[in-house]
Amino acid sequence: MKSAIDQLSQLREQAKLGGGKARLEAQHKRGKLTARERINVLLDEGSFREQDMFVRHRSSNFGLEKNRPLGDGVVTGVGKVDGRTVCVFSQDFTVFGGSLSETHAEKICKLMDLAMKIGAPVIGLNDSGGARIQEGVVSLGGYADIFLRNTMASGVIPQISVILGPCAGGAVYSPAITDFVFMVDGTSHLFVTGPNVVKTVTHEEVTFDELGGAETHASRSGVAHFAMENEIECLQEVRRLLSFLPSNNRDNGPDVSTLDNAKRLAPALDTIIPDNPNKPYDMHAVIAEIVDDGDFLEVHKDFATNIICGYGSLNGKPIGVVANQPASLAGVLDIDSSVKAARFVRFCDAFNIPLLVLEDVPGFLPGTDQEWRGIIRHGAKLLYAFCEATVPKITVITRKAYGGAYDVMNSKHIRGDYNFAWPTAEIAVMGAKGAVEILHRRDIAAAEDPEAKAKELEEEYSETFCNPYMAAERGFVDDVIVPSETRIRLIEAFELLENKVDTNPAKKHGNIPL
Ligand code: HXC
Repeated sequence: MKSAIDQLSQLREQAKLGGGKARLEAQHKRGKLTARERINVLLDEGSFREQDMFVRHRSSNFGLEKNRPLGDGVVTGVGKVDGRTVCVFSQDFTVFGGSLSETHAEKICKLMDLAMKIGAPVIGLNDSGGARIQEGVVSLGGYADIFLRNTMASGVIPQISVILGPCAGGAVYSPAITDFVFMVDGTSHLFVTGPNVVKTVTHEEVTFDELGGAETHASRSGVAHFAMENEIECLQEVRRLLSFLPSNNRDNGPDVSTLDNAKRLAPALDTIIPDNPNKPYDMHAVIAEIVDDGDFLEVHKDFATNIICGYGSLNGKPIGVVANQPASLAGVLDIDSSVKAARFVRFCDAFNIPLLVLEDVPGFLPGTDQEWRGIIRHGAKLLYAFCEATVPKITVITRKAYGGAYDVMNSKHIRGDYNFAWPTAEIAVMGAKGAVEILHRRDIAAAEDPEAKAKELEEEYSETFCNPYMAAERGFVDDVIVPSETRIRLIEAFELLENKVDTNPAKKHGNIPL
C-alpha cells in the first residue's frame, strides 16, 4: 500500500516538473511565470483541484512515442476566486512549447464541458506555439472542438482568455470568441500570421510587439480588452473582473462589498457641465461620483475612447455602464465605439447585468472614412444591441442627445426603463448652428448683418429645443432630475427594476448586422 501511495506522489511530482527544471527556469528568464505558478496567483490559496494530471499524448509521429510527458502541456482543473467556483486551464510552454495536441485539446474540452454543467466561468491561460506540428490535422481538429465549445458556451458562462505568451494562427480564434481577452506588455502576442510571413506577403517590416503585442490590441485593433504591465497584475485584474460577473446566465450575480451610502448626494455633479456646450468634461468623473466608492473597472480603456464601457456597483449590485465621453472626439459615435459598446451591451444582457447609460452625444461621426468603412452597419450593431436587451436599462442624459444617436443610446422608444435627463440636457435633431444653417440659409444671406441674424436664430432654436422639457412633455424622458441626486435616483430605480421581466419574440436567433 505504502509503495502504491509513494508511486502516486512520485508521479505527481514528475507531472509538476512539466518539461523539466531547465525549461521552467527558461520560462522565468523570459519574465514569465510557469503554468502552475499562474494558477496559484489567479485562485484563492490552496483551492485548486487538478484533473487529468496523468494524461499523455498518443502520437508516435516523428519519434514522439519516446517523449510522453505527464499532463501533455496543459494544466486543467477547478478552483475558487473569492470563494466562487471557476474552471481553469493553463498551457505549459515547457512541454512542446505548450502546443496543442489531440489529448491537450481533449483536456480543455472536458474542462469546458464540466464548466457548462456546473455553470462556472472558464479562464484560459494561453501560452502556446499553436497546433502540435507532429500531430497534423488531429491537432487542427482539437482546435475546432474547442471553438465549437467556445461558441456553445457563449452567453451561458463567462469565458476569459488570458494571453501570456505566443498565440498565433487559427489558435487566436478561441480567445476571439471568448468574452474578455487580457494581454501582458512585452510577453504576449496574438496574430494570424507572424512578422516573417507578413514580410513575405506584404513586404512590411514589423516587430512582434507592433504587429500583435498588448498595446496594439488594446488600443488599435480592440482585440484585447485589458493590457497589463505584468503577469501578476494581469491575473489580479482577472479576479477583479470576476468580482462583478455572475457565474452563469441563470445566476443572480455577486454582491459587491461596499461601505458607500445609498443616500449619498454627489454635489460635484451640479457644476460639472460647462456653461459652454462645446466645452468637454470628463465623463469618468461623473461615473466616479455615481458608482459605489468610485470603484469602476473599465473595459477597453484605451480603445475607442469616445465611449466608456465598464463595471461598477450601485448599493452593492453590479451594473454595466455605457457612457459617451465628451473629452474624446466630443463623445461622437463612430465605427469602433459602436462595435465596442454593442459587444459590451450584449454581454451584460446575456448575463443579466443591468445597464446604465450616461448620454452626451453630438451624433455619428461624418466623413468618407466612416461612411466607406460602414458606419451604417456598424452603428446599427449598437442600436440592435440596446433594442434586444431585456435587462433593466436606465439612461441619464447629461447634455447632448442629438439625432439618430439619441434613439440609439437606449432611448425610451427602444425599451429604456427609466430615462432621466439633467436640466442641462439638449435633446434635438441637431445642434443650433447646424439646424439654423439648414432652415434659414436664405434669411441669413439676405440679412443686413448675416452674422448677427444667425446668432439671433440660433438663440431662438436653442431656447426652443436645447432643453429636456420638450422630450419630458411627451414622456420620452420620465423625469428631469437634479444632478447631485443622480446616484440616489439610480439606486431607487434599479431596485424597482430588480424583478423586471421582458422578453423578445421566439426565434432561432436574430440577425445582428455583423
Ligand atoms: C510542436 C513546438 C511547437 C509546435 C514550439 N514547439 N511550437 N512543438 N508544435 N507548434 C517546441 C519547439 O520545437 C521547442 O522544442 C519548444 O517548443 C520551444 O520552442 P522554441 O522555438 O525554442 O521557443 P521560442 O524561441 O520562444 O519560440 C516560440 C514560438 C516558436 C514563436 C512559438 O516555437 C514557433 O514559431 N513555433 C511554431 C509556431 C507555429 O507556426 N505554430 C503553428 C501555427 S498554426 P525544444 O524541444 O527544441 O525545446 C496553428 C494553427 C491552429 O497553430 C489552427 C487552428 C484552426
